[in-house]
Amino acid sequence: MKLIFITPWVILALVSCQSPTSDNPRSARSQMKIANMKLARDPHTWSKPNEARVKHLEWDAEVNFESHTIAAVASYVIENISGTDTIVFDTKGLAIAEVLVDDAPVSFEVGEEREYIGSPLRVPIQKNSKQVSITYTTSPDAEALLWVDGDKPFLFSQSQAILARTWVPCQDSPGVRITYNARVKVPAGLMALMSAENPQVMSADGKYSFVMDQPIPSYLMALAVGDVQFRAVGNRTGVYAIPSLIDAAAEEFSDMQVMVDAAEKLYGPYVWGRYDLLILPPAFPFGGMENPKLTFATPTIIAGDKSLVSLVAHELAHSWSGNLVTNSTWDDFWLNEGFTVYFEQRIMEAVYGRERAEMLAQLSRQDLDATLSEIAASAHPEDTRLKLSLEGRSPDDGMTDIAYNKGYFFLRLIEETVGREKFDLFLKSYFETHTFQVMDTERFIDYLRSNLVDDELDKKIGIQAWVYGEGLPVNVPLVSSDALSKVDELRVSWERGEVSGGQLPWASWSYQERYRFISNFSDAVKAEHMKALDDRFGVSSIGNNEVLFAWLEQAIQKRYTPAYDELEQFLTTVGRRKFVSPLYEAMIASDQRDLAIAIYQKARPNYHAVTAGTVDGIVGKGE
Ligand code: BES
Ligand code: ZN
Repeated sequence: MKLIFITPWVILALVSCQSPTSDNPRSARSQMKIANMKLARDPHTWSKPNEARVKHLEWDAEVNFESHTIAAVASYVIENISGTDTIVFDTKGLAIAEVLVDDAPVSFEVGEEREYIGSPLRVPIQKNSKQVSITYTTSPDAEALLWVDGDKPFLFSQSQAILARTWVPCQDSPGVRITYNARVKVPAGLMALMSAENPQVMSADGKYSFVMDQPIPSYLMALAVGDVQFRAVGNRTGVYAIPSLIDAAAEEFSDMQVMVDAAEKLYGPYVWGRYDLLILPPAFPFGGMENPKLTFATPTIIAGDKSLVSLVAHELAHSWSGNLVTNSTWDDFWLNEGFTVYFEQRIMEAVYGRERAEMLAQLSRQDLDATLSEIAASAHPEDTRLKLSLEGRSPDDGMTDIAYNKGYFFLRLIEETVGREKFDLFLKSYFETHTFQVMDTERFIDYLRSNLVDDELDKKIGIQAWVYGEGLPVNVPLVSSDALSKVDELRVSWERGEVSGGQLPWASWSYQERYRFISNFSDAVKAEHMKALDDRFGVSSIGNNEVLFAWLEQAIQKRYTPAYDELEQFLTTVGRRKFVSPLYEAMIASDQRDLAIAIYQKARPNYHAVTAGTVDGIVGKGE
């Protein structure tokens, strides 16, 4: 296969070390150094990127909705760093037909499959080998991919954390960055989109081509195919959605451009060109995924009143924390997510004001407390540390609220200790200095100590305890939201019967207030109390999915059976793991296993492997 298009980044990667010397971080020499920086050992990859590393990918693919497979050629520009005789790729369930090295067929080896991490693909190379082309087909069970059948079928990928290897052979470790170009053929009448420069109109013949000329880790490779339309919402921002949702989506996310502007003002330029949002089918297993240039999102955030747009702020924030400065391995996941929650909060405060942001922070604390007690009582109490140790386990095990919310409160504590102005300057230069680089916890702490926190300040913060200790240090910043405190008081009075349902200001409550009210019901609340609220406010048919989720969880716990039709409806359409798994857990914990099994049997075929894998562990695989 020929390289059709060579991007500036490839040229940089191929430029010899005799190029003009300069300390300018954007110079070719310095980019080379960054690109070949020695990487930490990652227990979740077979690849050995310190020996031979991929630099650029040319991906030619055909998407087949009948067989639920993708047939593709992945042609990599590689660099043999150590002079090794083998380059190693990660694969999982791929059928590999042929491998060429510099256009000549070689005898490759696919090693034994290991749990979670799949099989190594070992390709023999020479010291000066430049290109490896792999012809392969994905399995219909490829875990990253969800195929939604129908007259207008839909396909989407979810690669994070280590599922890219189920649809592209790759060096699937977050420290390895590549640029890519792709040519993808899909059935006519469908649009293909990637984490790259994207089309805005459907092609007549189903052929699309893509350019991603900034280096990204494999977990940010993404593909979606469906009957979607594009609508601009700002000069650099827009939404993609199926025709029946495009108006609602454009309306809901009309503040996207304002968010991008606010984010740039905080921490420096948005370097990825466009920032667009793709609304996926409800089976999408996450709320959102920060695929570069094109965030993937669940339709459950279209609430009709912009109440759930903090998710967009979050995924946008990843354009800096995560996509520019990337966690070195999944043990450092908090560097991606904790920074992102902090940044998300700052965007929300800048765009919607302090009060709304503080309500969100208070809800983060509520979630964090719940997660802390859950993990403390689990088989892995050490998972409440920010710095994780996930060797031998699925990286998924570490993807809890700890990284997000303990990470957030740690950064907020630093902000409150040094002052916002100083912290903002620090973060801005942190992102700039480490653009397109990996970061691990230890290097971050060094950088923090050298640039912001001296010994005196550290006495107040206690970096060591926050990062390597279990639980939540006592100096956690206090958040208080008057609005949510009022809700708490009212809930207690209502539970005691001092305030009637009719006296609750439900109609004027924001989603955060409603969520706070419902999610904290005590044992005193019974099915009949829920019925009274439901009759009055129609909670079971509310359009806000966060509130609906909290309500359904309570309905299970209190056996408020009139909501069970809605529960089944919800679980058979929505595949967002954050909602789905607590609902099944609640059914099991409250002795309603039969109900869980009956619903799961109907729902499982619609779930993405990420969600099905988690629910299998709760309910069992069913029949
Ligand atoms: N990158 C994550 C999603 C993710 C994490 C996928 C780990 C696979 C493994 C994304 O940015 C995220 O955090 N999504 C959250 C939303 C957010 C507002 C907290 C989600 O999906 O709920
Ligand atoms: Zn995130």
